[in-house]
Amino acid sequence: MSRKPIIAGNWKMFKTRREAADLANALAASVGTYDRVEVVLCPPYTALETVGQAIRGTKISLGAQNCHWADQGAYTGEVSAGMLVDVGCKYVIIGHSERRQYFAETDASVNKKAQAAYRHGLIPIICVGETLEERQSGKTESVVTAQVQGCLKDLPPDKVAASIIAYEPVWAIGTGQTATKEQAQEVHALIRKLVAEMFSPEVAEKIRIQYGGSVKPQNIRELMDQPDIDGALVGGASLEADSFTAIVRFE
Ligand code: 13P
Repeated sequence: MSRKPIIAGNWKMFKTRREAADLANALAASVGTYDRVEVVLCPPYTALETVGQAIRGTKISLGAQNCHWADQGAYTGEVSAGMLVDVGCKYVIIGHSERRQYFAETDASVNKKAQAAYRHGLIPIICVGETLEERQSGKTESVVTAQVQGCLKDLPPDKVAASIIAYEPVWAIGTGQTATKEQAQEVHALIRKLVAEMFSPEVAEKIRIQYGGSVKPQNIRELMDQPDIDGALVGGASLEADSFTAIVRFE
């Protein structure tokens, strides 16, 4: 198995440009040459250029937190995949549960955004995950299955193989309540099986699946030890250089 671990920091709606530059400079110093894990920073749009400059010449990559599905147009307040490439992004998070909850993101819009990302050479980090209510009523498998099938529908297999899926149980986001390694592994294995069925075993073997939800320096290692967990999408603990560095250097 040769999937390179990928750990991304989702800064959400935090950090002015000054604060973003400070954090990115600290991370450039602490993990900028670190080779065992691919590191991605996803600041808010306003700090993309600033962070891009701070990590220039390092191994750290830049990502955004959303994009529109159209290449351009009259969509006030939106940003296109091409614009993200223009500012130096390699990755874009799409379908995050906060966008599903507050901004009416759906599996169908995620699917269109993934296609837009591919058109511009951006790699999507496609987020899925069940709510607490869905888990408690035994619907985790059916919910995640519908999300994966809807988000990945009819996408080109070679592009899917190079993409990232992030499994983020909504009840674990920002709550301090991480999924156990067994709970996470079970859903990651399900996602890989679904990708194999929709595309091929080869695509499933290549695609990297991140876990997200209260990832901390204290729990990253046991999560990463699971066979189908290939990385992490980190919220709160990515906002401080010390904790994010410790997560990246979990080995
Ligand atoms: P926390 O790490 O703060 O739980 O957030 C997870 C997340 O939503 C990353 O996208």
